[in-house]
Amino acid sequence: MTTPSLLTIVLGAGKGTRMKSALPKVLHRVAGLSMLGHVLRTTGAAGSAEVAAVVGPGMEVVAANAQRHAPGCKLFVQTEQLGTAHAVLAARPALEQHRGDVIVLYADTPLIRPATIVRLRQALDQGASVAVLGFQAAAPTGSGRLVTDATGTLLAIREEKDASPAERLIGVCNSGVMAFRTTNLADVLARIGNDNAKREYYLTDAVEVLRAMGGRGAVVLCDEAEVLGVNSRDQLAAAEAIWQERRRREVMLNGATLIAPSTVWFAYDTLIGQDVVIEPNVFFGPGVTVEDNVIIKANTHIDGADAKSKAGVVIRKGAEIGPFARLRPGADIGPEVHIGNFVEVKNARLEAGAKANHLSYIGDGRVGVGANIGAGTIFCNYDGFFKHFTDVGNGAFVGSNTSLVAPIKIGDGAFIGSGSVITKNVAADSLAIERVSQDERPGWAAKFRIAMQRRKADKAKA
Ligand code: UD1
Ligand code: MG
Repeated sequence: MTTPSLLTIVLGAGKGTRMKSALPKVLHRVAGLSMLGHVLRTTGAAGSAEVAAVVGPGMEVVAANAQRHAPGCKLFVQTEQLGTAHAVLAARPALEQHRGDVIVLYADTPLIRPATIVRLRQALDQGASVAVLGFQAAAPTGSGRLVTDATGTLLAIREEKDASPAERLIGVCNSGVMAFRTTNLADVLARIGNDNAKREYYLTDAVEVLRAMGGRGAVVLCDEAEVLGVNSRDQLAAAEAIWQERRRREVMLNGATLIAPSTVWFAYDTLIGQDVVIEPNVFFGPGVTVEDNVIIKANTHIDGADAKSKAGVVIRKGAEIGPFARLRPGADIGPEVHIGNFVEVKNARLEAGAKANHLSYIGDGRVGVGANIGAGTIFCNYDGFFKHFTDVGNGAFVGSNTSLVAPIKIGDGAFIGSGSVITKNVAADSLAIERVSQDERPGWAAKFRIAMQRRKADKAKA
């Protein structure tokens, strides 16, 4: 049997007032990605051919975010929030065009996995016309309850406010995720009324409508953690914690060592190679790739890509980073490179074997193969208006406490004396020093000490 094509409808029209935020709720981030982005990427991974998102009025930013994470995603505006069935019907044109299965996801439920969606669809393959993802709730209060018969067939979903005392005792709850296989879901949903406690059009009532039409309902269970819905900042933090725990485990199972896993924070797209060692307290922003055999020492912050700069960070084979290093967008750390404590790298490439071990700023430049950047070196890349490039040649040696005023080029094998402020290009294999030459007075210090001790003794006598 060929699997019917899948349309996913993502609901995100709710205002999310409990977030107390100027940002629409579904744009709040988990692991550096909007919750909406998580859900949309999951739909792609679950093999959804088509995606429609339902947003509220004035949510242009949400629409833009949806396009970014699911190009071609159709957008529908639900002008008034009259309930989940009403929200799905906002996407009526997409429903009417579609032939195949339909899945409804919530944009504020970011942790659902593709494999779970696949499992839910298997219930449709086994003959259900509606399959609901349920969970055994630790505290069911507030959730819709899944009413089943003795064989486990789903009879109805009852919202808490409409439930009888007996129904309220049911511990298996509705996650909100529902899958449908029916010829015309729009017609099914159009039959749903709002004669209930909240005066809303409940999507959950589709179960009884489909049963009345001769269909069958099924329940598929998953972990409660996977269907955590985010309504407030503390739930956002809870979702982050669950996501991070999952990812840390995957990273370790793929062959990386995390000495203190709970202190390492990944982004949704962080790529970690084999035999990578990550020490405690390391943070990854989006767009970071770490190749095999890299060591990231304690307290390193890797910003990764941001909205302004799309470039991420790559740390190539065998490099060592930190402790206390900061890698910003566009840092390309070559193989076997050493970046030490209090070194910041932004939009710069360090080629194989280069070293910057202490207290430096390397921004907008290149450091050639095997070059050494001494402690306290600053790439002076900004003149208050424009950024300029610094090029340090292969095998060059930049002495400690040097300022390289960009634009500037240091030739291959050149040597820069400590404490220099270099404003002119330096030819390959030259020595450049820019500082007052040293003036030495032999015996001066000994004479000075004797004079001072005498003055002290005279003063004590007086
Ligand atoms: C819903 C389910 C309930 C389930 C719970 C799980 C219904 C009737 N009830 O209840 O069985 O246990 O989720 O969290 O479906 N939305 C819109 N437009 C609307 C209404 C809602 O887009 O008019 C969106 C919201 O943004 C949200 C989702 O749909 O993402 C769920 O809406 P919400 O009001 O939170 O439903 P619950 O009352 O929690
Ligand atoms: Mg809710």
